[in-house]
Amino acid sequence: MSQPFILVLYYSRHGATRKMAEAIALGVESVSGIEARLRTVPEISSECEAVSDTIPATGDLYCSDEDLRQCTGLVMGSPTRFGTMAAPLKYYLETSSDLWMNGALINKPAAVFTSTSSLHGGQEATLLSMMVPLLHHGMILAGLPYSETALLDTQTGGTPYGASHVAGKSGDQPVDRTELQLCQAQGKRIAELALRLG
Ligand SMILES: Cc1cc2nc3c(=O)[nH]c(=O)nc-3n(C[C@H](O)[C@H](O)[C@H](O)COP(=O)(O)O)c2cc1C
Repeated sequence: MSQPFILVLYYSRHGATRKMAEAIALGVESVSGIEARLRTVPEISSECEAVSDTIPATGDLYCSDEDLRQCTGLVMGSPTRFGTMAAPLKYYLETSSDLWMNGALINKPAAVFTSTSSLHGGQEATLLSMMVPLLHHGMILAGLPYSETALLDTQTGGTPYGASHVAGKSGDQPVDRTELQLCQAQGKRIAELALRLG
């Protein structure tokens, strides 16, 4: 059987959420016996019949049903868009009914992360709403415990509902040390939970 893996599934238009995904993957891979698989989703278009190539020209591969079916745990990230997840990720999740009907994700651990431009721009609302479809899939949601003391010290992102980043008005604020630390803690936590539950 292949090595168990945590699916780090994200959508990122401008790269901030992707940076977080990389840090989460590092946290996953700090745990021995499990690896991270980074996957993204295609853009969606207002042209109803537009389809993208199955393989993106650059960056991570698009997530397949098999990536989701075979993962031992999931960490899912999206930029905040009006206080909830971005449409391409929501659209992708709405293609997962087969997995839902077969209970393929039941009892797998999951966590969520987000990036916003502003400090009070809806990170918690986004993270909580991202958990809802995963609960429908029967997944076991995990946040970040306050034993991660960075949660108490942060002046930027980082919430008990999941890792977060404040990218700033122009989207060019780097993921800071505290935010990175919490991303890594989140990846590590899901990897450890997955090995215990799996
Ligand atoms: C349509 C749209 C809606 C947005 N809504 C919010 C929001 O509600 N709160 C916020 O702080 N930022 C909001 N943003 C900004 C993004 O969340 C922010 O730039 C994020 O860091 C982008 O992540 P990315 O670099 O991974 O694409 C919005 C951006 C767009 C395009």
